[in-house]
Amino acid sequence: MTIDIHTLPESERGTCPTELGFGNHFSDHLFTQRYDEGKGWHDAAIKPFHNLTLHPAASVLHYGQEIFEGLKAYRRADGGVNLFRPEQNALRFNRSAQRMVMPEVDISFHVEAIRQLVEIDDSWVPNQEGASLYIRPAMIATTPRLGLGAATSYLHFVMAGPVGPYFKEGFNPVSVYVSDTCRRAVKGGVGEAKTGGNYAASLYMSEQAAAKGFTQVLWLDAVEGRFIEEVGAMNICFVYDNQRIVTPTLTGSILAGITRDSILTLAPTLGYEIVEERLDINTVMNDIGTGKITEVFGCGTAAVISPVGRLCYRDADHTVNNMQAGPVAKRLFDELTAIQYGRGGDSFGWVVEV
Ligand code: PLP
Ligand code: COI
Repeated sequence: MTIDIHTLPESERGTCPTELGFGNHFSDHLFTQRYDEGKGWHDAAIKPFHNLTLHPAASVLHYGQEIFEGLKAYRRADGGVNLFRPEQNALRFNRSAQRMVMPEVDISFHVEAIRQLVEIDDSWVPNQEGASLYIRPAMIATTPRLGLGAATSYLHFVMAGPVGPYFKEGFNPVSVYVSDTCRRAVKGGVGEAKTGGNYAASLYMSEQAAAKGFTQVLWLDAVEGRFIEEVGAMNICFVYDNQRIVTPTLTGSILAGITRDSILTLAPTLGYEIVEERLDINTVMNDIGTGKITEVFGCGTAAVISPVGRLCYRDADHTVNNMQAGPVAKRLFDELTAIQYGRGGDSFGWVVEV
């Protein structure tokens, strides 16, 4: 299958802003392709960025049949551009598609569509330190039908936009509120899929936490309300004695983060011990209080590595490492971003040059 390409003339293209937040700017072009039962994927195109037109009864608008992904393109010092683990990202897109009864995409075609979009919108890949081009693939159910059932037509699209740090704190530690009432996802549900409903479910508690001065919510398992799962936009790691990095086991309700997986692979090569286990929130709060836990950090594509400086659960409100970024998070951030931006060797073969 080929991609029909219609690009904007240079004179009509936008310019990449220098002041970047997260997710407020969009590049000049959009990839789309359509799926119809019996016909498969068709009409792949990269066109000037445009709004989508949907029938008001499109399934996605009523029953939330949708999935999305997030990956980044990084500007190298030599002017080239790197994608980070795009295939792993595409594989997760297809796992989410399976769970949400949506058609899978061809992995290499999806990655090639991303590569071509980034190549066309090269001028939108920022140069400044800590910035990148965030790429957002998504798929929505477009069948106009109010009867509940899997749709028979879908739209797959990829957009991109330049971003800076996800949190206003940058690399400074964020404050995290542990939800003791609302739950994000349950084993057997769709927590492991990257689907909008998980994020919609998180908003109520996120707003309450924000009103109390917290940047993110840490979710506990929905069965016992005791085991740590993940933060709204990232996986979570606890550092014991500056050396042992402990992260929750993937139980089915946690998103299998690609940054998480990268840390599990990278950290042992830097001399850290890695442990995946079920983590009881009471033990963790106690270990923060006694100083056994020396650092806490989140990890994700948007969040990169984000130190957590304060954790609040029920009556316990503890600061971690004096609200300072710790050496383990700093080292992992430096090593990971060196690979992503092409400053260091890519010994794991994670980078794809555009
Ligand atoms: N958990 C959630 C809920 C997320 O939205 C993300 C971000 O994608 C992550 C974890 C981290 O995943 P990744 O490292 O693949 O971006
Ligand atoms: C990502 O890190 O790519 C995500 O999808 C998280 C999102 C909340 C921005």
